Amino acid sequence: MRRAVILAGTGAIGWATVRRLCGAGYEVIVTGRDPSRVPPGLTATGAKFVQGDRHDPAAMSAVLASGADLVVDCACYTATHAHALLAYLGDVTSTVMISSKAVYVDRDGRHTNSDVPPRFDAPITEEQPTVRPNGADYNSRDGYGANKVAAEEVLLASGHPVTVLRPSKVHGSWGRQPREWYFVKRVLDRRPAVLLARRGVGADHPSAALNIAALIESVADRPGRRILNAADPDCPDGRMIASIVADHLGHSWREILLDDGAPDGLGRHPWDRVPPIVLDTTAAARLGYTPAGDYATTVRDEIEWLVEVATSSHRESDFGEWGPGPRDYADEDAYRRLLDA
Ligand SMILES: NC(=O)c1ccc[n+]([C@@H]2O[C@H](COP(=O)([O-])OP(=O)(O)OC[C@H]3O[C@@H](n4cnc5c(N)ncnc54)[C@H](OP(=O)(O)O)[C@@H]3O)[C@@H](O)[C@H]2O)c1
Repeated sequence: MRRAVILAGTGAIGWATVRRLCGAGYEVIVTGRDPSRVPPGLTATGAKFVQGDRHDPAAMSAVLASGADLVVDCACYTATHAHALLAYLGDVTSTVMISSKAVYVDRDGRHTNSDVPPRFDAPITEEQPTVRPNGADYNSRDGYGANKVAAEEVLLASGHPVTVLRPSKVHGSWGRQPREWYFVKRVLDRRPAVLLARRGVGADHPSAALNIAALIESVADRPGRRILNAADPDCPDGRMIASIVADHLGHSWREILLDDGAPDGLGRHPWDRVPPIVLDTTAAARLGYTPAGDYATTVRDEIEWLVEVATSSHRESDFGEWGPGPRDYADEDAYRRLLDA
């Protein structure tokens, strides 16, 4: 039986990968810090949860010392983190490091966390220039992408078969950043209208954890040293995402498409990037990977989880920052009344 270890694997990517690999007959070990945040279905998949911090050498050794066919690292953020992983890669057949599209810069050196948004005029390939390591803290807007690049470079220079995956906006059940809550919460509150900034044409490529998991399984079968964008086969804009969420939950609402003259911030959904940010996924396709599905299909995993959490527990508050704030509905209603006056 092949053995897979998923470091920091109780979030969206980890949980999708657990389900995929267990289905493919792997023995799967998953680590995370907080046992209360382990998806309850994990044991039923046959996977084993081991509590431990990804950045604690003893915890790393506990799961990696005996080697593995596949290691997936969901919490490798710096060159130091990469060096800590390197120590074990001699006994690993294939390693996947989860990086991010935040590494890419446009021709003016701007990245997705810059104050001024970047402008990419075409789908971004893996050859697009990246931000340079800059000494900033990895937990900062300036340092996140730069430190991811530093970590990628350490692993790729090691000579081990390491695949770097660069996802965009991840969606999936048990994710810690459930952006779709922006629309799901509005549906659950039976909002009569959805307001969309910039007429809803903003788009920022979604990356289903289910698709990332499918890509990870392909990579496990083809060990090598490479960088791959990891994104959904389609890139719906905000208007389409709103409609997919509402349709899936059987809700209909009036669409209010806002022009630039609308009040600042109104209808600003999480995918509001103009021009759109789109990843070119040709390289992953060339590897022979088959996506689990398009956005509308794969996003059901997260939508259904969000609805279940909201209706069966008190953890809706975990999604707070991703949903409407205290003033949002009042502002939206006021604008709608103005429009109808
Ligand atoms: N989410 C996105 O939109 C996005 C986009 C691009 C790239 N990425 C990359 O994707 C990776 C995260 O994957 P994800 O989206 O699946 O994450 P996620 O949904 O945010 O979940 C993070 C997981 O990591 C665990 N974790 C965090 N720090 C840990 C540590 N020090 N030791 C052990 N476990 C730890 C968390 O569990 P505990 O808190 O219980 O430990 C949780 O299981 C990161 O490398 C991130 O840079 C994410």
